[in-house]
Amino acid sequence: MEVKAFYWMGDHLLLLDQRQLPEKELWLELRDHREVAEAIRNMAVRGAPAIGCVAAYGFVMGISKGSDPEEVYITLSQTRPTARNLFWALDRMMEALKTGRDIEEEARKIEQEDLEANRRMGDLGSKLIHDGARVLTHCNTGALATAGWGTALGVIRTAHLKGKKVHVWVDETRPYLQGARLTAWELFKEGIMHTVITDNSAGYLMSRGLVDVIIVGADRITANGEVANKIGTYSLAVLAKYHGIPFYVCAPSTTFDLSIASGKEIPIEERSGSEVKEIGGFKIAPENSPALYLSFDVTPAELITGIITERGIISPVNKENVKKCLS
Ligand code: MRU
Repeated sequence: MEVKAFYWMGDHLLLLDQRQLPEKELWLELRDHREVAEAIRNMAVRGAPAIGCVAAYGFVMGISKGSDPEEVYITLSQTRPTARNLFWALDRMMEALKTGRDIEEEARKIEQEDLEANRRMGDLGSKLIHDGARVLTHCNTGALATAGWGTALGVIRTAHLKGKKVHVWVDETRPYLQGARLTAWELFKEGIMHTVITDNSAGYLMSRGLVDVIIVGADRITANGEVANKIGTYSLAVLAKYHGIPFYVCAPSTTFDLSIASGKEIPIEERSGSEVKEIGGFKIAPENSPALYLSFDVTPAELITGIITERGIISPVNKENVKKCLS
């Protein structure tokens, strides 16, 4: 059964509310750019490529309702700071508007191109997954996080469809639990073998020789190949290096930000500490204790075995190879 995070209906957007999964499959009807901005901010939709796609449709709704293009751009862009695809998509939409192109057509193209990029990355990346591989992944990088299919999870999906027997270790991914709630849900629907683990189990599993390869997505990749991704990615990369396990990142070219020289310059989203202290409204820490929730971390290039893009695999990861692959 096809997993889709959103459908463009011609004048409004249908959005699967990812906060409700896996309990309920609840669809939201979004009718203007402010509603789309709120859905991105409150993470009803999440995952860098999916955010970019829905922002493009939000832009279409804002403009068709006569809102000022600058205001539409600002409202949609001031939602989540780290995902490069958000800004990339909005810049492309603004450019389309200014040059008189059909903006609805442009948004549809953004969605279609993301889907095609995912399929291509699936084909390229699945060659790195051997039959019988035990693959560890973090966060959710599947159809829910993209226009469909997925990046890192798309690679796993393709390997499975090619008949390779894979088993996926699914990091639960505290505090929003994208792994436990969303990745496990997608894998279950696809009939792909998997086991949900607590984030702090990964190192021990590696030490026991139970992880063959790690594959994750990305929210922004800099010119020198440093990768911002869900908090916890960096720890996995360090553990992978120590244990000699290949560590791959999978992301489309739209996630790269070549205007940024290194990871230190990536804006890292800080969300409310209350998201750490509560799970589904249930308090798990004293109300008055401070809590810190940095939503992303940055993994240096030297810890990454390769970056799978739709244009090829970047390996070793360095400035020259990033440039060669993307230009
Ligand atoms: O906070 P989220 O759920 O939007 O974070 C998502 C991730 O970190 C993903 O790994 C990344 O966006 C790649 S999704 C294909």
